[in-house]
Amino acid sequence: MAIRTILTYPDTVLRERAEPVTNIDGKIQQLIDDMADTMYHGPNAIGLASNQVGEPCRIIMFDISAKDEPSDLVVVINPEIIEANGQIVNEEGCLSVIDYRADVKRAEYVTVKGIDREENPVTLKKEGLGAIVLQHEIDHLNGILFIDHISKLKRELYKMRLKKLLKRKGGAPVM
Ligand code: NI
Repeated sequence: MAIRTILTYPDTVLRERAEPVTNIDGKIQQLIDDMADTMYHGPNAIGLASNQVGEPCRIIMFDISAKDEPSDLVVVINPEIIEANGQIVNEEGCLSVIDYRADVKRAEYVTVKGIDREENPVTLKKEGLGAIVLQHEIDHLNGILFIDHISKLKRELYKMRLKKLLKRKGGAPVM
Protein backbone atom coordinates (compact mmCIF):
# COMPACT_ATOMS: atom_id res chain seq x y z
CA MET A 1 0.00 0.00 0.00
CA ALA A 2 1.42 3.31 -1.02
CA ILE A 3 0.38 6.74 -2.10
CA ARG A 4 1.42 7.27 -5.72
CA THR A 5 2.30 10.55 -7.38
CA ILE A 6 -0.57 11.92 -9.47
CA LEU A 7 0.49 13.19 -12.90
CA THR A 8 -0.83 16.62 -13.77
CA TYR A 9 -1.62 18.50 -16.97
CA PRO A 10 0.27 19.02 -19.31
CA ASP A 11 2.03 15.65 -18.65
CA THR A 12 1.88 13.74 -21.95
CA VAL A 13 1.19 10.36 -20.28
CA LEU A 14 -2.29 11.72 -19.48
CA ARG A 15 -2.85 12.07 -23.24
CA GLU A 16 -2.09 8.45 -24.15
CA ARG A 17 -4.80 5.87 -24.63
CA ALA A 18 -4.38 3.24 -21.90
CA GLU A 19 -4.19 -0.44 -22.83
CA PRO A 20 -6.66 -3.10 -21.57
CA VAL A 21 -5.67 -5.25 -18.60
CA THR A 22 -5.20 -8.84 -19.83
CA ASN A 23 -4.16 -10.50 -16.58
CA ILE A 24 -5.37 -9.45 -13.12
CA ASP A 25 -2.21 -10.52 -11.32
CA GLY A 26 -0.54 -9.46 -8.06
CA LYS A 27 0.91 -6.38 -9.68
CA ILE A 28 -2.56 -5.20 -10.75
CA GLN A 29 -3.97 -5.93 -7.26
CA GLN A 30 -1.11 -3.88 -5.77
CA LEU A 31 -1.83 -1.05 -8.21
CA ILE A 32 -5.53 -1.07 -7.22
CA ASP A 33 -4.60 -0.91 -3.51
CA ASP A 34 -2.17 1.95 -4.19
CA MET A 35 -4.77 3.78 -6.27
CA ALA A 36 -7.28 3.52 -3.41
CA ASP A 37 -4.69 4.90 -0.95
CA THR A 38 -3.91 7.70 -3.38
CA MET A 39 -7.55 8.56 -4.04
CA TYR A 40 -8.56 8.61 -0.37
CA HIS A 41 -5.47 10.70 0.42
CA GLY A 42 -6.57 13.46 -1.96
CA PRO A 43 -8.94 15.92 -0.28
CA ASN A 44 -12.43 15.51 -1.73
CA ALA A 45 -11.24 13.03 -4.36
CA ILE A 46 -14.11 10.85 -5.58
CA GLY A 47 -12.49 9.09 -8.54
CA LEU A 48 -9.18 8.04 -10.06
CA ALA A 49 -7.95 6.41 -13.27
CA SER A 50 -4.79 4.28 -13.40
CA ASN A 51 -3.03 6.42 -15.99
CA GLN A 52 -3.26 9.38 -13.60
CA VAL A 53 -0.65 7.57 -11.50
CA GLY A 54 1.43 6.79 -14.58
CA GLU A 55 0.18 3.24 -15.22
CA PRO A 56 -1.19 3.16 -18.79
CA CYS A 57 -3.69 0.32 -18.21
CA ARG A 58 -7.48 0.50 -17.97
CA ILE A 59 -8.56 0.66 -14.33
CA ILE A 60 -10.90 3.18 -12.74
CA MET A 61 -12.26 3.58 -9.24
CA PHE A 62 -14.68 5.86 -7.51
CA ASP A 63 -16.40 6.43 -4.20
CA ILE A 64 -19.32 8.85 -4.20
CA SER A 65 -20.62 7.97 -0.74
CA ALA A 66 -21.60 10.97 1.42
CA LYS A 67 -19.26 12.08 4.21
CA ASP A 68 -21.50 10.60 6.91
CA GLU A 69 -21.86 7.26 5.10
CA PRO A 70 -19.45 4.29 5.11
CA SER A 71 -17.03 4.34 2.18
CA ASP A 72 -18.20 2.55 -0.96
CA LEU A 73 -15.25 1.90 -3.26
CA VAL A 74 -16.11 0.68 -6.76
CA VAL A 75 -13.28 -0.63 -8.97
CA VAL A 76 -13.84 -1.35 -12.67
CA ILE A 77 -11.19 -2.92 -14.91
CA ASN A 78 -11.47 -2.37 -18.69
CA PRO A 79 -14.63 -0.25 -18.30
CA GLU A 80 -16.72 0.44 -21.36
CA ILE A 81 -19.75 2.69 -21.75
CA ILE A 82 -22.43 0.63 -23.47
CA GLU A 83 -25.31 3.06 -23.08
CA ALA A 84 -25.59 6.80 -22.42
CA ASN A 85 -28.74 8.92 -22.20
CA GLY A 86 -29.92 12.36 -21.17
CA GLN A 87 -27.88 15.41 -20.42
CA ILE A 88 -26.55 17.00 -17.25
CA VAL A 89 -24.26 19.98 -16.62
CA ASN A 90 -22.12 19.90 -13.50
CA GLU A 91 -19.00 21.66 -12.24
CA GLU A 92 -16.03 19.29 -12.40
CA GLY A 93 -12.53 19.32 -11.00
CA CYS A 94 -9.71 16.83 -11.47
CA LEU A 95 -6.68 15.73 -9.44
CA SER A 96 -4.65 16.05 -12.66
CA VAL A 97 -5.83 19.59 -13.51
CA ILE A 98 -4.60 21.77 -10.69
CA ASP A 99 -6.53 24.70 -9.34
CA TYR A 100 -9.39 24.69 -11.83
CA ARG A 101 -13.07 23.81 -12.02
CA ALA A 102 -15.53 24.26 -14.87
CA ASP A 103 -19.02 23.26 -15.98
CA VAL A 104 -19.04 20.17 -18.20
CA LYS A 105 -21.97 18.71 -20.15
CA ARG A 106 -22.27 14.91 -19.80
CA ALA A 107 -24.83 12.14 -20.25
CA GLU A 108 -27.10 11.94 -17.19
CA TYR A 109 -27.48 8.15 -17.30
CA VAL A 110 -24.83 5.62 -18.29
CA THR A 111 -24.47 1.87 -18.33
CA VAL A 112 -20.89 0.66 -18.00
CA LYS A 113 -19.62 -2.87 -18.23
CA GLY A 114 -16.24 -4.19 -17.19
CA ILE A 115 -14.57 -6.60 -14.76
CA ASP A 116 -14.12 -6.33 -10.99
CA ARG A 117 -10.86 -7.16 -9.19
CA GLU A 118 -12.07 -10.73 -8.56
CA GLU A 119 -12.38 -11.14 -12.35
CA ASN A 120 -16.19 -11.15 -12.32
CA PRO A 121 -18.02 -9.32 -15.11
CA VAL A 122 -19.86 -6.26 -13.78
CA THR A 123 -22.52 -3.98 -15.22
CA LEU A 124 -23.11 -0.61 -13.56
CA LYS A 125 -26.14 1.57 -14.19
CA LYS A 126 -25.55 5.04 -12.79
CA GLU A 127 -27.19 8.45 -12.91
CA GLY A 128 -26.17 11.94 -11.84
CA LEU A 129 -22.83 12.15 -10.02
CA GLY A 130 -22.19 8.42 -10.51
CA ALA A 131 -22.67 8.77 -14.27
CA ILE A 132 -20.48 11.89 -14.34
CA VAL A 133 -17.59 10.28 -12.46
CA LEU A 134 -17.73 7.17 -14.69
CA GLN A 135 -17.54 9.31 -17.84
CA HIS A 136 -14.76 11.49 -16.36
CA GLU A 137 -12.61 8.47 -15.40
CA ILE A 138 -13.18 6.56 -18.65
CA ASP A 139 -12.22 9.76 -20.50
CA HIS A 140 -8.89 9.64 -18.63
CA LEU A 141 -8.23 6.12 -19.98
CA ASN A 142 -8.74 7.51 -23.48
CA GLY A 143 -6.34 10.41 -22.93
CA ILE A 144 -9.14 12.97 -22.47
CA LEU A 145 -9.32 15.56 -19.69
CA PHE A 146 -12.40 17.50 -18.59
CA ILE A 147 -10.83 20.71 -19.92
CA ASP A 148 -11.17 19.19 -23.42
CA HIS A 149 -14.95 19.55 -22.97
CA ILE A 150 -14.87 23.32 -22.31
CA SER A 151 -14.50 26.14 -24.86
CA LYS A 152 -11.12 26.79 -26.46
CA LEU A 153 -11.12 30.28 -24.96
CA LYS A 154 -11.66 28.99 -21.41
CA ARG A 155 -8.97 26.38 -21.95
CA GLU A 156 -6.46 29.00 -23.17
CA LEU A 157 -7.24 31.19 -20.16
CA TYR A 158 -6.60 28.22 -17.89
CA LYS A 159 -3.25 27.50 -19.60
CA MET A 160 -2.16 31.10 -19.02
CA ARG A 161 -3.25 30.97 -15.40
CA LEU A 162 -1.43 27.66 -14.88
CA LYS A 163 1.79 29.10 -16.32
CA LYS A 164 1.65 31.98 -13.84
CA LEU A 165 0.76 29.64 -11.02
CA LEU A 166 3.69 27.30 -11.69
CA LYS A 167 6.04 30.27 -11.98
CA ARG A 168 4.86 31.77 -8.72
CA LYS A 169 5.01 28.59 -6.71
CA GLY A 170 8.09 27.18 -8.38
CA GLY A 171 6.24 23.89 -8.82
CA ALA A 172 2.84 22.35 -8.92
CA PRO A 173 0.83 22.93 -5.75
CA VAL A 174 -0.50 19.80 -4.11
CA MET A 175 -4.23 19.14 -4.10
NI1 NI B 1 -9.80 13.49 -13.29
